[in-house]
Amino acid sequence: MIIFKTQKELKTHLEALNKTIGFVPTMGALHLGHISLVQQAKKESEIVVCSIFVNPTQFNEINDFENYPVTHKQDIELLKNNACDILYLPESVKDVYLYEKKINIDLGTIATVMEGANRPGHFDGVVQVVSVLFEIVNPHKAFFGLKDFQQYCIIKKMVQELELNIEVIGCPIVREETGLAMSSRNALLSEAERKRALVIIETLQFLQKNTKPGNNSKLIDNCCLKLNKSSRLEYLTIADLETLQPTIFLEKNKEYRAFIVTRLGNVRLIDNIEIFA
Ligand code: PAJ
Repeated sequence: MIIFKTQKELKTHLEALNKTIGFVPTMGALHLGHISLVQQAKKESEIVVCSIFVNPTQFNEINDFENYPVTHKQDIELLKNNACDILYLPESVKDVYLYEKKINIDLGTIATVMEGANRPGHFDGVVQVVSVLFEIVNPHKAFFGLKDFQQYCIIKKMVQELELNIEVIGCPIVREETGLAMSSRNALLSEAERKRALVIIETLQFLQKNTKPGNNSKLIDNCCLKLNKSSRLEYLTIADLETLQPTIFLEKNKEYRAFIVTRLGNVRLIDNIEIFA
């Protein structure tokens, strides 16, 4: 695996390769969720490029940014052992944002709900950094986890709006044996919080089993009560798969997704599951 610390050297190297490139952008503190994306990228491309960059512009809470786990040594080992060919590990924030670049695209209403409503500016930061990374790496395919389902939809929309020739591929959520979705932030949970966090997957699976065509507001209210007993719930939303607009009325034979964001201590956890009414 070759590690590049500057975009200039990475770009020059990739341009000379003339191979199909699969790209996996990350913020590091890698776990098997990230690695599943690397493995998928390997299956679908000749060269796998991964990036590790904790992007300051997408954090709307300074504490979250400052506490974000950094484990470069371990990350490099994991990537080496999992067939990653090239790692972009920028030496500075400046190396990523070499040029001032404003992305003026209309993401529409998929960006104004859930994470868009609860983390002001977050998606602007994500779109900014991913568009810069796409420009540097110029991949054929880019791999994103469905754990951040809304982010995946927004990146697809961004690629459409900017008319980029990149296929955006969504990969399944990887979970611990307990059902807890793998996350870099899980490292910040105490043992007790980790146990209490299981309420998230339990609630998602309960919703998956019990949602019915028609009005589901009682079921949703009960789930909110349960979540609030062991965590601090930010939102529980059932949303249309395409538009991401929240709804409590489900139509028969239509696909939805249930989304939960909740806090255990200072740690904000996010998860979702598919729902068929
Ligand atoms: P990060 O949180 O490091 O996640 C990098 C990628 O790994 C994302 O596509 C995310 O959805 C995926 N991922 C994380 N946990 C996963 C899991 N348990 N199962 C499957 N995939 C998982 O998302 C970001 O970084 C940033 O916003 C980024 C896109 C890199 C832009 O800065």
